[in-house]
Amino acid sequence: MIINKPPMGFNVWNTFGGNVNEKIIMETADAFVERGLKEVGYEYIIIDDCWSKRQRDENGRLVADPEKFPHGMKFVADYVHSKGLKFGIYSCAGTLTCAGYPSSFSFEYIDASTFAEWGVDYLKYDYCHKPFSTRGEYLYRRMGLALNNCGRDILFAACSWGADDTHEWIRTTGANTWRSTTDITDSWISVKDLIMSQRRILNSGGKNCFNDMDMLVVGMNDKGNASRGGCSVEEYKTHFAAWCMLQSPLIIGCDVRNMDETTAKILTNKELIKINQDELGAQTYEIAPWDENRLMLVRPLSNGDFALGFFNLGDEKTDMWTTADALSIPENCGKNIMTTELYGGERKKVVNRTIEEVLKPHSCKIWRCSII
Ligand code: GLA
Repeated sequence: MIINKPPMGFNVWNTFGGNVNEKIIMETADAFVERGLKEVGYEYIIIDDCWSKRQRDENGRLVADPEKFPHGMKFVADYVHSKGLKFGIYSCAGTLTCAGYPSSFSFEYIDASTFAEWGVDYLKYDYCHKPFSTRGEYLYRRMGLALNNCGRDILFAACSWGADDTHEWIRTTGANTWRSTTDITDSWISVKDLIMSQRRILNSGGKNCFNDMDMLVVGMNDKGNASRGGCSVEEYKTHFAAWCMLQSPLIIGCDVRNMDETTAKILTNKELIKINQDELGAQTYEIAPWDENRLMLVRPLSNGDFALGFFNLGDEKTDMWTTADALSIPENCGKNIMTTELYGGERKKVVNRTIEEVLKPHSCKIWRCSII
């Protein structure tokens, strides 16, 4: 399967951990429609670890836990599809999943076919309990090939956390996204670390194999499985903007059935989502390296515009600036830049050929820039 833009959806893990069940999935599908998430592009509803029985059946097939999924997995997938949405499931490349459930190593074809029969559209594929003698690329290629032959389009979301230099081999496996980070937690320190960790792998993302920075914590407000103190609204806004600028999949982690208006507003920011989903699929780059707290990013866009992001991840207020020249618009070309700020909508022509901004701690400014 080929994808041109990062997937958008919801995964149960950040809030519910292993306590997943059909009610959560079905109510989340309802909330996707009712709370406007579907309308702005979120489509995959994804089950994580701990969904199966501890044993395969007599034919070696995975079986959904009958207490969590009393009507079986196909029933849940059908419900999700009936809302015009897509359904995702989880397995792992090792001998057991991270939480110790049956995993797909040496069962790749059987599992891919089972998922296809159930109507699965997305597979998150983890990296725990890896057999020592087998290389990561081989494990992911096996599942990539199985998915290619299972008779259904299933998005392949690799989750090897960037281990074993994943970026060097992941494009040979058929994966559509690859997790480049350790697990996110609902804390500013985690968000900052994950953003900064992208600096050295900016050129390993892009079309058809997007660099996955892990699920969003926006709106978790220190509740649920990944809670570690929570973040402020400003920090959640910076987090969301960074995932959009860095072309990461946008997989919501908060309980969308109960999200507040502030959360809904961040997650449904159409202009930022447009940057993330831009069909050019271009890689984001850093204009000039600042320091360990400040990042300045550019993403070229399909209509000739580009997105520009100033990020202050430090604990002090700071000034950041760049020039039209640094953005490849030299004065002698007779052109200027029009900026539209994407959290507030303010439009401004660049004055004195300089874009400058004072940024509060842990905040950002993102603009869509047009050449005029
Ligand atoms: C790993 C993954 C997480 C989650 C858990 C489930 O830690 O990185 O995203 O899937 O396993 O056990």
